[in-house]
Amino acid sequence: MIILGIETTCDETGVGIVKDGREVLSNVVASSAVMHKKFGGIVPEVAAREQARTVIPCVRQALRQAGCKLLDIDAFAVANGPGLVGSLLAGVETAKTLAFVCEKPLFAVNHLVGHVYANWVNQDHSAEIIDHRKKKSTMNYELRTPNFPLVALIVSGGHTDLILMLYHGKYKWLGGTRDDAAGEAFDKVARFLGLGYPGGPEIERMASSYKLEVTSYKFPRPMINEDNFDFSFSGLKTAVVNLVHGSQSTVYSKEEIACTFQDAVVDVLVEKTIKAAKKYNAKSIVVGGGVAANELLRSRFKVDGSRIGIPVYFPKKGLSVDNGAMIAAAAFYQTNFTDPLIIQAEPGLHFA
Ligand code: KG4
Ligand code: ZN
Repeated sequence: MIILGIETTCDETGVGIVKDGREVLSNVVASSAVMHKKFGGIVPEVAAREQARTVIPCVRQALRQAGCKLLDIDAFAVANGPGLVGSLLAGVETAKTLAFVCEKPLFAVNHLVGHVYANWVNQDHSAEIIDHRKKKSTMNYELRTPNFPLVALIVSGGHTDLILMLYHGKYKWLGGTRDDAAGEAFDKVARFLGLGYPGGPEIERMASSYKLEVTSYKFPRPMINEDNFDFSFSGLKTAVVNLVHGSQSTVYSKEEIACTFQDAVVDVLVEKTIKAAKKYNAKSIVVGGGVAANELLRSRFKVDGSRIGIPVYFPKKGLSVDNGAMIAAAAFYQTNFTDPLIIQAEPGLHFA
């Protein structure tokens, strides 16, 4: 089954074509991030306009790269929330129209579920696009998939959520952030330090030039020992601001701040996820969302996961951030499709 997935929840326009939920035939992503740089955060109106402008060209490019025609698509899928309403509308209206005109099923996918399913997608799609175009059946993708029950950590610019997944389609929300999302904290600290946007990669880059052996900066690990699966990152951000403002002079090290801040965020994310995995006897841990691209998070999870004998899955980096392939992959495991005429953009969509 070939599904075309559309992702327009925020500032990335993603269109991916995926076969049988695993094999990425194409995955095109356009981003308006550069337009938001000077504001240090996303301007919803600008993001929405860019979505409307780029979504059809992305569909066309995804079809071309996959070597498909519109009529080869068996179903369409769209992330209909959570997200920015203007951005969502561009994807939802496009998917609706395509499904209606082509008389094909339309799947409404929760964006966060998409981040989870990025872990089911094969890990080596660039080589496979070439194979597909040559019509060679030399697909050789990793067949290892996460086992249930699993605990999923979704860490993005808008969300930090822990989910228990019992089987495909069966989720239980365990907890989430009470204030800033982890990615948002990276973005805000980066902006405060005068680094670029998005802040996560900038903080990571800056942190990599510091060796965290001895540091005088003591940042809190908010809620790390609390008996729940909630998070809070705004106090950590304030601790960075207070440290800088409290400095007698301008002599503070951005590298050291970035490194110790990143360490604090990673400590909390890993500790609480491992605690949830132990409590619910998870067979796998799955991580998704933009912050999943972070190397320290990846390596810390690998070490702590193997210590307790639970494999930890991360998507390939290009599939951690928002993209259409993860939406198409999630749709493949979804049993309910939607009437194209009634599907709506749902900015505040929750886990069912
Ligand atoms: O999932 P995503 O692409 O969009 C949302 O759904 O929000 O995540 C974007 C977030 C941004 O906050 C960005 O700073 C963060 O992911 N991010 C990172 C890294 N790459 C992206 N955070 C930490 N380390 C990274 N390498
Ligand atoms: Zn996302």
